[in-house]
Amino acid sequence: MSGDERVYRNVGEIRTFALRQARMSPAQRRDYQRLASRFCIAFQQASCDVRAAFGDPGLPLIAEIGFGMGETTALIAARRPECNFVGIEVYKPGIGKLLGLLESAGLTNVRIIAHDAVAVLQTMIAEQELDGVHIFFPDPWPKKRHHKRRLIQPGFVELLRRRLRRGAYVYLVTDWRDYAAQMLDVFQAVDGFRNPYGGFCDRRPWRPETSFERKGRDRAHAIHELWLERI
Ligand SMILES: C[S@@+](CC[C@H](N)C(=O)[O-])C[C@H]1O[C@@H](n2cnc3c(N)ncnc32)[C@H](O)[C@@H]1O
Repeated sequence: MSGDERVYRNVGEIRTFALRQARMSPAQRRDYQRLASRFCIAFQQASCDVRAAFGDPGLPLIAEIGFGMGETTALIAARRPECNFVGIEVYKPGIGKLLGLLESAGLTNVRIIAHDAVAVLQTMIAEQELDGVHIFFPDPWPKKRHHKRRLIQPGFVELLRRRLRRGAYVYLVTDWRDYAAQMLDVFQAVDGFRNPYGGFCDRRPWRPETSFERKGRDRAHAIHELWLERI
């Protein structure tokens, strides 16, 4: 095992998500059963040609990690038909929900991998395969003893760097001030990214508000947006 592979393996040792009560609604279950074969790519422990799963494999490929209920994913995919999107999520009700949204909106540029995104990036996605990564409102793990479960850590960002082609972007949004500061610090410390804004930036016009964002605003949390480019 190379040094790099060891780093990635360590990254996946601590789960970044909580095993929430994950009961699907009857509609979500129906959509899951009907539509998973059309839109889901099965997790596998080996490199996979993710692009081949799309109608137009030549389009830029953007990964969204932790899409929650998927409303944002579907809206962005509709607003940006010039890209393919692969959503990676472990939360079954959200996967069922997004499947239904994809069908009702007639979207053909989204696929889903229902698995831990860390493992997906470690094993399925090839080097320099991605043109962008969206991580909107990652689980904040606010207690200090849980900070090690936060997704944005040096080892994970190093893994991201290897999966992104040069010129690709990472778009992060959080409503947790100290997590936002941690994100800035981590990306400053890791080689291979530049921050064209020098700090936080404005919301991209194509990014709609998410339900977690509304909850954050209700708690008077400021929204922090971060845009990095792979160099
Ligand atoms: C706080 S929610 C935000 C959801 C959505 N992005 C939004 O803004 O509404 C974080 C989501 O990330 C997912 N998640 C956390 N770690 C993950 C991982 N390693 N792989 C896949 N999904 C993950 C959780 O299941 C959860 O749905």
